[in-house]
Amino acid sequence: MITEHKESLNPDDPKDLIDAYLLEMKDRGENPGEAGGVRNETDLRIVLFDALFAGTDTTYNTMKWIFLYLAAYPDKQRKLQEELDSALPSGSLVTLEDKPRIPYTEAVINEVLRMSSLTNVGLPHSPVRDVVLAGYKIPKGSMIIPVTASIHSDPRYWDQPDLFLPERWLSPEGKFVMRKEGYLPFSTGKRSCVGESLARMELMIFTATVAQNFTIGPPEGKTIDLLPDFDNRIIHMARKQDVVFTSRNP
Ligand code: HEM
Repeated sequence: MITEHKESLNPDDPKDLIDAYLLEMKDRGENPGEAGGVRNETDLRIVLFDALFAGTDTTYNTMKWIFLYLAAYPDKQRKLQEELDSALPSGSLVTLEDKPRIPYTEAVINEVLRMSSLTNVGLPHSPVRDVVLAGYKIPKGSMIIPVTASIHSDPRYWDQPDLFLPERWLSPEGKFVMRKEGYLPFSTGKRSCVGESLARMELMIFTATVAQNFTIGPPEGKTIDLLPDFDNRIIHMARKQDVVFTSRNP
């Protein structure tokens, strides 16, 4: 794609991110700009990798998990659809402003993020100096890998962690309550996921829109397999399987 863009580049009419980046490279050569960033083809490839993998694959795979959990738990799916049907006028598309009125939808999304633990192990990090944490000495430069899936199923943080219970995210009054302890789907600290708010918007709009219009279930006579595909040790991918989307407005 980069080669194709180079061939069709019109400096007066950059059509997308790649064109804009190529123009920056031309202007600046390999000199760092004011912000200190390098502009070369390797860097552009990494930007595109971030856009496609960090920015797209993650949300796409989380949506797959959401569909599978809804298909596996029809009672929770019904509750979600009832909430959407009563909070949103018939035929209207959900917007971010509707968020406070659909706490159960948010609860379902957060419970799927916990149960599926997409980033089974988070990205490696490394301390820049020797530190002591909870009595453990961690030498400078050692590699630290958080095992997110283990934290998400730790009974010190989660009552009956193996149960899919969106209700655990609701206050007694039915309001959505965010929990931080033992919950790291987007990691934590300064280098936590930079796309979290965008991902959350996408998950809410896609989940609500699909659930408004379709009921999701397993194919007749089949059950949904919620175990991750263990071929991938870093990302918890859903296992390949069929699900049936039945229109709610035939
Ligand atoms: C459900 C969707 C997503 C999940 C579960 C997710 C999860 C994560 C996790 C666990 C990290 C590692 C943080 C760390 O190193 O401590 C991360 C980093 C990152 N994510 Fe996401 N992410 C999602 C969506 C997105 C989106 C939509 C974007 C961009 C539009 C994005 C961009 C990034 C980038 C650039 C980093 C590296 C941040 C850094 O090193 O400073 N992610 N993400």
